[in-house]
Amino acid sequence: MAAGSGLRALGLTAPLILILLILLWPPPVLPQGPPGTAEQRCFCQVTGYLDDCTCDVETIDAFNNYKLFPRLNELLESDYFRYYKVNLKKPCPFWNDSSHCGIRDCAVKPCPSNEVPDGIRSGSYKYSEEANNLAEECEEAERLGAVDGSLSEETLEAVLRWTRHDDSSDSFCEVDDIHSPDAEYVDLLLNPERYTGYKGPDAWKIWNSIYEENCFKPQTVKRPLASGRGDDEGRTFYNWLKGVCVEKRAFYRLVSGLHASINIHLSARYLLQDTWSEKKWGPNVTEFQQRFDEVLTRGEGPRRLKNLYFLYLIELRALSKALPFFERPGFQLYTGNKIQDAEIKNLLLEILHLAKSFPLHFDENSFFAGNQKEAAKLKEEFRLHFKNISKIMDCVGCFKCRLWGKLQTQGLGTALKILFSENLIEKIPESGPSYGFQLTRQEIVALFNAFGRISTSVKELENFRNILQNM
Ligand SMILES: *[C@@H]1O[C@H](CO)[C@@H](O)[C@H](O)[C@H]1NC(C)=O
Ligand SMILES: *[C@@H]1O[C@H](CO)[C@@H](O)[C@H](O)[C@H]1NC(C)=O
Ligand SMILES: *[C@@H]1O[C@H](CO)[C@@H](O)[C@H](O)[C@H]1NC(C)=O
Repeated sequence: MAAGSGLRALGLTAPLILILLILLWPPPVLPQGPPGTAEQRCFCQVTGYLDDCTCDVETIDAFNNYKLFPRLNELLESDYFRYYKVNLKKPCPFWNDSSHCGIRDCAVKPCPSNEVPDGIRSGSYKYSEEANNLAEECEEAERLGAVDGSLSEETLEAVLRWTRHDDSSDSFCEVDDIHSPDAEYVDLLLNPERYTGYKGPDAWKIWNSIYEENCFKPQTVKRPLASGRGDDEGRTFYNWLKGVCVEKRAFYRLVSGLHASINIHLSARYLLQDTWSEKKWGPNVTEFQQRFDEVLTRGEGPRRLKNLYFLYLIELRALSKALPFFERPGFQLYTGNKIQDAEIKNLLLEILHLAKSFPLHFDENSFFAGNQKEAAKLKEEFRLHFKNISKIMDCVGCFKCRLWGKLQTQGLGTALKILFSENLIEKIPESGPSYGFQLTRQEIVALFNAFGRISTSVKELENFRNILQNM
């Protein structure tokens, strides 16, 4: 709408890819007699086939960097996808958090609500109490009518439908009550993910509790690099990982991939210069090497990068599976601007068809393929662990990191929900309500923005590869 395009005209479409939690991978060891060039040391093992799937890294790079990434970026700049409602004031349920609101680069600017398109504001109205449902439904219909008198019945229904399913019990995430007075819209383009200076013990604690308490790992098995001295180069850990079922291994790899993506953003949008007159953000190769160089990370770096590709494939698969849901004529990306809404829906479908055309999809049928009872139990365990991780995001001290952490976990949670609802999605009728499977606007925005971050990370790897090659 007017406000959105006005801001864009001012050149405020900040880089889409900024960074999140600074990673707390353990401190680097100094390089000793480095074998191979700097470029080979980060990338030599990140080539060819990926474990647990039939895809290779080069195919993903070419597909992502030249086809998908440019279109996805355009999509994420649209009004529908740039506004995300989030409650950054929820207290941490697990421990006393120390707030980092003092760090300037952590601040999040909420939008004055008159900047958010009317259609989005009214559409996210939710039916919170069952008892009030009926009365609210009428009120809501009236309110929506007031936004745009020319709304068709079908539009109204579509909007009402997304909002009603916010409480669905199959959610993989602890979702914010977006009707809490503390929940505010943020413009993601104005609050980019990038280096914030949030690091040290607090940030370490977040990742540590995710890996240690929420990744199915027994406490007796130490993570690689976690124990400092007397380390067995991660052998115990990788033996354990090899021995667990493919789903639990996947869970660990998704978390590690997310962690890698956040660190790539941080290295690619590093605060290079900070004077009162000018701030400059750009790639910091040293930072990148400390997190991904094979020697400096004792072999962990290339594994982290492979996990990033694994995460990419999982989210890509989810997008292609969700196509029937988005393709229905009744589905609308509703902001109130009819012409723009139709254009953005076309772009969205183009991206989903592209995702579907990717030749080497990860095959999630190998997941949960065991006997049905076992599979259901595992899926539930998976869901609970993931839900817990989304709660941990309320413990992230830096608000900007918290925003992107919440958005990315909700996005990945939505991807998992799609993958595990495949049968339901296939049964969605072309018209009329799609009972059984629903996505809220928040889930849709999170899904695509989260994938946008991963896609950006894959693209940034190309830049780092080039920089390292020329060093
Ligand atoms: C949290 O802080 C409160 C008050 O500052 C204190 O009483 C409590 O013991 C703390 N809890 C933990 C787990 O540190
Ligand atoms: C959830 O995470 C917290 C913090 O890491 C942990 O203490 C707790 O055991 C976890 N709960 C479950 C059910 O995994
Ligand atoms: C790049 O990151 C390293 C830490 O990894 C830091 O010491 C260095 O100052 C950074 N370089 C610039 C130009 O900011």
